[in-house]
Amino acid sequence: MDEKRVEVQDAWRQRAHIDDAGYRKMYAASVADPEAFWAEQGKRIDWMKPYTRVKNTSFEPGNISIRWFEDGTTNVAHNCIDRHLETRGDQTAIIWEGDDPGESKHISYRELHAQVCRMANVLRNRGVGKGDRVTIYLPMIPEAAYAMLACARLGAIHSIVFGGFSPDSLAGRIKGCESKLVITADEGLRGGRKVPLKANVDAAIARLDKDAVDHVVVVRRTGTAVPMEPGRDVYYHEAAEQVTDDCPAEAVEAEHPLFILYTSGSTGQPKGVVHTTGGYLVYAAMTHEYVFDYHEGDVYWCTADVGWVTGHSYIVYGPLANGATTLMFEGIPTYPSNARFWEVVDKHQVNIFYTAPTAIRSLMGGGEGPVKKTSRASLRVLGSVGEPINPEAWEWYYRVVGDGRCPIVDTWWQTETGGILITPLPGATALKPGSATRPFFGVTPEVVDAEGKVLEGACEGNLCLADSWPGQMRTVYGDHERFEQTYFSTYKGKYFTGDGCRRDGDGYYWITGRVDDVINVSGHRMGTAEVESSLVAHPKVAEAAVVGYPHDLKGQGIYAYVTLNQGEEGDDALRKELVAWVRRDIGPIASPDLIQFAPGLPKTRSGKIMRRILRKIAEDDFGSLGDTSTLAEPLVVDDLIENRQNRP
Ligand code: PRX
Repeated sequence: MDEKRVEVQDAWRQRAHIDDAGYRKMYAASVADPEAFWAEQGKRIDWMKPYTRVKNTSFEPGNISIRWFEDGTTNVAHNCIDRHLETRGDQTAIIWEGDDPGESKHISYRELHAQVCRMANVLRNRGVGKGDRVTIYLPMIPEAAYAMLACARLGAIHSIVFGGFSPDSLAGRIKGCESKLVITADEGLRGGRKVPLKANVDAAIARLDKDAVDHVVVVRRTGTAVPMEPGRDVYYHEAAEQVTDDCPAEAVEAEHPLFILYTSGSTGQPKGVVHTTGGYLVYAAMTHEYVFDYHEGDVYWCTADVGWVTGHSYIVYGPLANGATTLMFEGIPTYPSNARFWEVVDKHQVNIFYTAPTAIRSLMGGGEGPVKKTSRASLRVLGSVGEPINPEAWEWYYRVVGDGRCPIVDTWWQTETGGILITPLPGATALKPGSATRPFFGVTPEVVDAEGKVLEGACEGNLCLADSWPGQMRTVYGDHERFEQTYFSTYKGKYFTGDGCRRDGDGYYWITGRVDDVINVSGHRMGTAEVESSLVAHPKVAEAAVVGYPHDLKGQGIYAYVTLNQGEEGDDALRKELVAWVRRDIGPIASPDLIQFAPGLPKTRSGKIMRRILRKIAEDDFGSLGDTSTLAEPLVVDDLIENRQNRP
């Protein structure tokens, strides 16, 4: 493969925290003696009771246990707010940019403190205390950050559900962690369109047991009147008037859960990924500083939604732990025009910009004009996350958006990893478009073959991690067995990421995508099993199999093979109906892009669907179907090819 290499520019090196030699030395130390390395790094946050024990982790079958800084106590809200008050109380903590370009505001650390205390008191008055779960279903408004930090302040555990999920999905997640309190808004606002959040919460609660949810706290965003259930629902602004803005931060153990975040896997329903307090915060703060080469005074913008892990670690916790100014954007890249991102960069003089390849690809379609009419001179570092970035998009991001001046940090990580694991460091790492390059400090990637043999040198296989890092998830909420089964049973003694990857001769990692039944749609994870179970719940559907296929904008699209009940006719009207069905059931991100009605699915004689064949046909690559001799009915394949939906 013809690989392009972009060397570190002098300007990057001069400013950066670390150069290449420094990286190599520090990386070697971090893996040679993790105890000593993390003992030192743990000091980047305040501890109420200092830790004496640093690492206590085991990937051994039957005894998966991950504990960091375990005898220390601390509080995340204290670290993200209170400890900054003396030195930077008047500095902006959050710049909020509304959906409407005319609306924005600056929130100082002092104001953030008052707002978070108020929110914490509102929650506390409604019975929320240490260990209680709170579901947050909010748009990208400052109250989302206040709510997260208010939970952290009380030692309560938040579970954020992305506003694009349906009432059914929301209900499943409220039930999954048994939250008694939900925080939402009357409506959300995105790209000029309203999202009926409170109505969705009402619909979700209607699906649960009568006394499942005691309180719904409603933030007023658009001001539209929404039905309020007496005794259960309260407007946040009214409740906030009843409380003070003083609330002590509760000291919690390092391993006390900070949040649960539901994420899709290859089987069953989404699982509740649990992250805890001390190790998570140390890791989020450290990666934020090094990966983005963050310096005091920088304005930092991550365009993710707080409903995803990127929003947790790199809009709220990492940046605020470092005392940064973090920008929170309510809108979308294409509203009111597709120059919006770059206009916001100029308006707020953003220095560090972190987004997803899917956004870059969608903006590329509009050409260079909308970018070039803005200055972007404040930009210093560009970041990418969520899916492999194709070299064309990388090139455009680097050359057009960054004017060839800014390094691109292609950051590979997962909901489960809590923070970035493989990434370039500005000033230290020569870049290769499409490669996430090298491991972060303390991270031990291994490439293994199908049998679990660890491969050496340049190779291709499945990506595992040999040892723990402080930001790692600790368990699946309420199901430690599933945690072990999902991540530690494929390759004994290792954490298996579910990703395939290649390592080149320079030791650079190239993530090739999921090797399990997870699809990455616009940087969002979707389990094929979830979409399938939604489809088969439709009265006309007998059977469904869902696979991913390459999609120009989304990275991967969702391709559904559907077998109808006898006597049903598959036509475009039914296709539309099924798409609407899945949207309603799971949410818009799960909408199938292509639906093929198939009289039969390719199965082995024991009845197992052969997804490999379905993937090939969906990829329009049916010349190499491989061995089909084990199929129960080889002829179904001819029909599938004949009626394939993905034709160039
Ligand atoms: O397949 C990898 C892909 O996204 C998956 C994780 O998805 P999620 O838990 O939703 O977290 C996304 C944000 C951290 C991974 O297993 N992925 C993430 N970042 C990259 C990536 N693939 C290639 N390159 C990346 N930089």
